[in-house]
Amino acid sequence: MEIVVSTLAERPDLRPRFFELTEGFPAFMYHDPTADLFFDHLDEFTDYCFVAVRQNASDDLVGTACSVPFHQARAPDGGLLPLPDGGWDDIIRRSAWTRRTGAVPDAVSALEIRLRPDVTGLGLSAVVLAAMRDNAVRRGFTTLVAPVRPTAKHLEPGTPMSDYAFRVRDDGLPADPWLRTHARLGAVIEKVAPASMVITGSLAQWRSWAGQPFDTDGPTIIEGALVPVLVDVARDLGVYVEPNVWMRHRL
Ligand SMILES: CC(C)(COP(=O)(O)OP(=O)(O)OC[C@H]1O[C@@H](n2cnc3c(N)ncnc32)[C@H](O)[C@@H]1OP(=O)(O)O)[C@@H](O)C(=O)NCCC(=O)NCCS
Repeated sequence: MEIVVSTLAERPDLRPRFFELTEGFPAFMYHDPTADLFFDHLDEFTDYCFVAVRQNASDDLVGTACSVPFHQARAPDGGLLPLPDGGWDDIIRRSAWTRRTGAVPDAVSALEIRLRPDVTGLGLSAVVLAAMRDNAVRRGFTTLVAPVRPTAKHLEPGTPMSDYAFRVRDDGLPADPWLRTHARLGAVIEKVAPASMVITGSLAQWRSWAGQPFDTDGPTIIEGALVPVLVDVARDLGVYVEPNVWMRHRL
């Protein structure tokens, strides 16, 4: 199957449909408040968001993707600081800060790629990712990073990400399929982002998001989560701190 990937700026007609593809992420992931800093301001990022349509079917939306430009954090001596432990959340805040202060963006971070379920497993994600990378190059950037959410990590919520992320197959590529797709396009793992996405809620909220009782203290495994949710019944609190994996693409 062939697809055409465009920026949202190039396809404003698809802007009203940008949030149409809702499958692929568990419900609780729509409750990271930091995400609103990006998605509520999508129109400021139309040069960095993408829509994928089937070739010769320009209205058949099969995928969407987002990236953000940001000004990289620096030490007082001007040297670049390491990528933030706060991963996805941190880079969204950094991008918002960049716009607010008028700092000049000098890097791009991928945020997400999602495909319609009926077109997954066909290798299309690499096409979208390559389009994101090419877009960054065209706009003069030399750095593209990605706080990658490994797509098979939810099958092993008890495994530390620091072990999981660095597992490789016989051919030397990452064992996780999504890390592997990035690696095939030339990205390398830089570090784990231990607190990439932080989602907190009352236990009633967690029950509505995940359909489990949340009536026992301690780590609680829920479907689709990469690590357990930490539950404190007396405080009526559930906290999910998702680790992701920083990868750096060579542009
Ligand atoms: C993640 C996603 C974009 C991958 O897209 P895709 O086009 O299906 O990926 P590909 O077809 O290129 O597959 C990549 C690899 O994953 C493997 N794979 C695909 N679907 C798989 C599945 N359901 N289970 C296990 N492996 C799978 C493929 O075999 C391939 O492996 P290979 O490297 O050995 O060839 C897509 O599945 C998706 O939209 N998921 C929901 C949203 C999401 O999780 N996005 C990623 C985080 S931002």
